[in-house]
Amino acid sequence: MKILIINGPNLNLLGKREPEIYGTQTFEDYFKILKTRFPDITLEYYQSNVEGFLIDKLHEVGFSYDGIVMNAGAYTHTSIAIADAIAGIQTPVIEVHISNVHARESFRHHGFMSKNCVGSIAGLGLKGYDLGIQYFIP
Ligand code: DQA
Repeated sequence: MKILIINGPNLNLLGKREPEIYGTQTFEDYFKILKTRFPDITLEYYQSNVEGFLIDKLHEVGFSYDGIVMNAGAYTHTSIAIADAIAGIQTPVIEVHISNVHARESFRHHGFMSKNCVGSIAGLGLKGYDLGIQYFIP
């Protein structure tokens, strides 16, 4: 089984970025833990701050991988293009947000991609990625 985690803009700064909201762990460190938690899955990780690169990656893996766990960061709230890319691929996508976007500023309450994802996880910290992966395990 092949699963890709995709992180969007500013998530490369996890561990340093607004730690009171996003915690103190880097994603690279957390990804190592995920790899040991799911040894039977081919688990990959991609991060970009560029909207088009995120779309290219969705196209690249979206007809062959079994699942995508995606935190599109602020593009969640702005990008019809990413929402369209998710609608256009075959691989199911789980949307993840580290923070509870519904308890934050009103501009974070709407996400364009949510309706094209199989489900959304928000507010459970980095554990949301773990739970997203578990969805794909039969
Ligand atoms: C986020 C929430 C977004 O509103 C924000 O722009 C992010 C991170 C989260 O993981 O909580 O960059 O997606």
